[in-house]
Amino acid sequence: MSPIPPAAASEYSVPKRDAANPDYGAGVHNWHDSLAAIFARLIAAEVPDNGACAFLVWGDPGLYDSTIRIIDRLDGAAFTVEIIPGITAIQALTAAHGIALNRIGEPVHITTGRKLGDEGVRSDSVVMLDGQTAFAALDNPDLDIFWGAYLGTPDEILIEGPLMEVRDRIVETRKAARAQHGWIMDTYLLRKREG
Ligand SMILES: C[S@@+](CC[C@H](N)C(=O)[O-])C[C@H]1O[C@@H](n2cnc3c(N)ncnc32)[C@H](O)[C@@H]1O
Repeated sequence: MSPIPPAAASEYSVPKRDAANPDYGAGVHNWHDSLAAIFARLIAAEVPDNGACAFLVWGDPGLYDSTIRIIDRLDGAAFTVEIIPGITAIQALTAAHGIALNRIGEPVHITTGRKLGDEGVRSDSVVMLDGQTAFAALDNPDLDIFWGAYLGTPDEILIEGPLMEVRDRIVETRKAARAQHGWIMDTYLLRKREG
């Protein structure tokens, strides 16, 4: 398959979700519709008959990623889909900190920064998609945090400790790293201290 020429590439440029839509679910739905239309055009134009193509996804496509859902919207498309599992940011986080994800016999909640801000901590929680550093607003002396940015890359940064002691350092480190690299992806586990 040849690279897409720059003129055509703009036709496929990724639209942004309408963050101004007060109905988050509807905003995502519309956004996925636009993406599905681009996927359909791209496949029709670039994949030869009986050919194959691949979508590269961060981590595992089954975790907080909508590529599978968007491909499912391509009604009537005559192709089969094979999903190759990847290493999630959660696995990269726990491996880098040298910890198990769950405590013995205990559940783990996976959530987003937005939900954490709305609902607080329910149980041990992994938090993703937290551009607003929701952890910094939690005043809970019983929580430890295991935080990681750029996990699995040469720029990986790790901080762990009692939430109340390290939260300001994480916020500052995150801000500086984001300014240095121009982007950041970070994930963390909040764990109730035992004993
Ligand atoms: C759209 S979700 C994609 C998750 C991905 N599918 C996975 O399996 O990890 C993006 C969020 O995943 C987390 N994330 C993904 N890659 C990361 C990485 N290398 N380091 C830290 N966090 C990461 C961040 O919380 C980011 O906001």
